[in-house]
Amino acid sequence: MFDSGLGGLSVLREIVRRLPRENCIYVADSGHCPYGGKSQREIIARACAISDFLLAQGAKLIVVACNSATVAAVEYLRANYAATFVGMEPAVKPAVALSRRGVIGVLATVATLSGEKLHRLIDRHAGGVRVITQACPGLPEQVEAGDLDGPATRALVQRYTVPLLAEGADVIVLGSTHYPFLRPLIQDVVGADVRLVDTGEAVARRVESILEREGVRAPPGAAAAAIRWFSSAAPAHLEQVGGRLWGGPIQACALPG
Ligand code: DGL
Repeated sequence: MFDSGLGGLSVLREIVRRLPRENCIYVADSGHCPYGGKSQREIIARACAISDFLLAQGAKLIVVACNSATVAAVEYLRANYAATFVGMEPAVKPAVALSRRGVIGVLATVATLSGEKLHRLIDRHAGGVRVITQACPGLPEQVEAGDLDGPATRALVQRYTVPLLAEGADVIVLGSTHYPFLRPLIQDVVGADVRLVDTGEAVARRVESILEREGVRAPPGAAAAAIRWFSSAAPAHLEQVGGRLWGGPIQACALPG
């Protein structure tokens, strides 16, 4: 699996919880983070380079653990590789079901908001619920720096959530894989009455059902999974900041190329 950086660790966490016997390779493209302000062409180029690497390592399925890369590149990847790709889908459907006031907010990157995928999802699931979207430049960088609750991160979270609360949103979709690491801060800023939803667990369920369907799930007696870690930035960044987010030791290698 891969992400523009450390955000995908929030998805890996759910996959390892659900599928503890599947070996995983995690690629943090932190050397090219953020993807949120990049063009579709640039994101496709990164997604292809990383997919080539993962397939050369023998990956049986690739999780695009990044909303921005999913919007920009997953259709291209599916059309050009004979491999199975699982992408992210912001949790609009569950958010709509949870909303009592009929207003939800979606926090996401510029890349995610400028693609058609999210808007199709909103058209399909919003029904009578009002959906307000909010771009959040700067937030992934705070997570990459390991600043999950400092004053600068709090100021950004405030700036991005105030407009949603002013419109009466009672559910907020965390539409980037970096944001679950900011969940305690976001919850503190928006208050306990506002529900926060993300997609990590749903993606893990989807991966499980595809592995079952394709008959490639690790057998029940298999040894506990190994995770191999790669970063396009300094491996020490994934080891140190990533290790803190992951909650355990990480031994990372430089992503070749
Ligand atoms: N993790 C990426 C996502 O889910 C966002 C971070 C970025 O802008 O690179 O969209």
